[in-house]
Amino acid sequence: MNQTPEFFDASDKRSMEEIHAAVFREAKLPEEGAEPGPAWLYVVIFATLCFGFFYIGRYLGEVSDRPHVLEEGVMMASMGPEPPQPLFKVGEKIYRQRCVSCHQENGLGVEGTYPPLAQSSWVTGNPERLAAILLYGINGNITVNGKVYNGNMPAWENLKDEQLAGVATYIRNSWGNSADTVRVETFVEARKKIKRVAPWTEQELNEMFKPQLASGAKK
Ligand code: HEC
Repeated sequence: MNQTPEFFDASDKRSMEEIHAAVFREAKLPEEGAEPGPAWLYVVIFATLCFGFFYIGRYLGEVSDRPHVLEEGVMMASMGPEPPQPLFKVGEKIYRQRCVSCHQENGLGVEGTYPPLAQSSWVTGNPERLAAILLYGINGNITVNGKVYNGNMPAWENLKDEQLAGVATYIRNSWGNSADTVRVETFVEARKKIKRVAPWTEQELNEMFKPQLASGAKK
């Protein structure tokens, strides 16, 4: 019964460590599922990421208040000229630049010196009369909201028609005022029709213009 196994070689004089060295030399097999993938897969992933970053960088525009706009020039050309700003907005800007120092932020003017534009029928009445006032100015006595003023309102002839229509529209629709938009053409026509250099007097304005446009004539 005490047979020696076949593979036992009595002449083998190596020590136990030497005989088992082969076992320790073998690298451990990686665990299933944790084997590294094929190299081409890494190349594909890397290339995809590179393309992704490139794409985002190229087509997402810039860091700006209009980040979605790529190549502004091309976009603008395809969109045509910039749409005109609404007159009210144009006018608000002009008012702040040119009028606010006298007629004030609240449109109430300065008691005894600069007349109010709020609730003034000169403002909300006949737009042609308002255009005439803005283009050529006024001096001498003028009654506004029941009070008499006697100062000089400069002429604004040098402003563009669009700016004038804007400011007229703005003052007709601020501080509780509510009246029609004044069209740019109203100023174009007024310049053609009225040939004068001197500022108006209240009397001249009353002779030349009706306080209101005839009803139905929306100008
Ligand atoms: C230097 C001060 C001054 C500036 C700037 C000025 N105004 Fe006047 N404005 C006056 C005075 C003063 C009168 C009254 C004139 C008079 O007494 O004859 C007046 C009168 C008016 C009137 C008619 C009266 C009324 O109160 O309704 C209107 C409308 C008007 N201004 C609009 C404007 C607008 C719009 C601007 C800006 C584009 C402007 N003014 C800038 C001083 C000014």
